[in-house]
Amino acid sequence: MLQDIAREFKELERYDFRVLQAVETGMRFFDWVPVDDLPNYARLPRDEVEYRITRISKYKLVERKTGHYVGYKLTFGGYDALAINTLVRRTAIESLGSKVGVGKESDIYDAEREGGRIVIVKFHREGTTFRHVKRSRGYFGKAERCSWMLASRLAAEREYEAITTLYGNVAVPRPIAHNRHVIVMGLVDGREISSTTLGDPIAILDKIIAQIKLTYQLGIVHADLSEYNVVVCADGDIALIDWPQWVSVAHPNADELLYRDVSTVLSYFARKYQIAKRTEDVLAYVKQRDHGPADRFAG
Ligand SMILES: Nc1ncnc2c1ncn2[C@@H]1O[C@H](COP(=O)(O)OP(=O)(O)OP(=O)(O)O)[C@@H](O)[C@H]1O
Ligand SMILES: [Mg+2]
Repeated sequence: MLQDIAREFKELERYDFRVLQAVETGMRFFDWVPVDDLPNYARLPRDEVEYRITRISKYKLVERKTGHYVGYKLTFGGYDALAINTLVRRTAIESLGSKVGVGKESDIYDAEREGGRIVIVKFHREGTTFRHVKRSRGYFGKAERCSWMLASRLAAEREYEAITTLYGNVAVPRPIAHNRHVIVMGLVDGREISSTTLGDPIAILDKIIAQIKLTYQLGIVHADLSEYNVVVCADGDIALIDWPQWVSVAHPNADELLYRDVSTVLSYFARKYQIAKRTEDVLAYVKQRDHGPADRFAG
């Protein structure tokens, strides 16, 4: 789907986006947006809309249904195109690069910013599993119509909120921009600890625990921490990534989720490096309030 977007994106014109956005607007009210309503949403003449909708259908940015009326809905590709267009207009990115990772619920691309700097673009893809949808049911009214759009946007918003809150205090990717279901963040130039053998695992584990503690002291629990979501750089610095599932420390399940985060990381280091640390001891350290900034990194 998105593989083609970077290339096709360049061929899309301003009015293509106007019509694409009109379909998005209509989806607040319809599962399938009637073609007859599009000129109104797009503020374009009917023949222009017809020409554009044929083009964007060809690129699979919208899906068409014929029944008692002709209707359109956005595809993930269409939603991607709208988000990229906005991010390019805001100069958050200049051009999308190639795929660098696939997660369970995302596609990760690199992109270039002005001046050739490389950044990471994460497209959230919720809604195949409907993980977040249940939680928000009843809250968003008509927006529930298109649960994959809503769920993906919520996941991106949540992740962006976390890295924005933590950045500067906790080693997380730098937040750069966010639109719809997409976030732009700094590149962490390293590898997940799951896919490398560490030279000094004891030091790395200590760094991870220190970051979990800093996160906790800022009121946040990662809630999806594992060897796949810790990146280690060549110089031994680490970063915690993949934050859409975070919860506040006040959340009723915060303790349980923190326990799971810590024990997942500890069991990985026990299994792979035979480093023995008790979950309870680490939890006590994480939760222990320090008195001043000087104490923060102690332990
Ligand atoms: N800021 C970043 N810098 C460098 N690489 C990144 C960055 N963010 C993500 N990646 C790469 O993309 C992969 C997937 O990203 P992430 O873990 O955020 O997505 P995910 O879909 O939630 O993954 P999963 O649910 O499978 O753990 C990461 O494991 C990492 O290799
Ligand atoms: Mg991940």
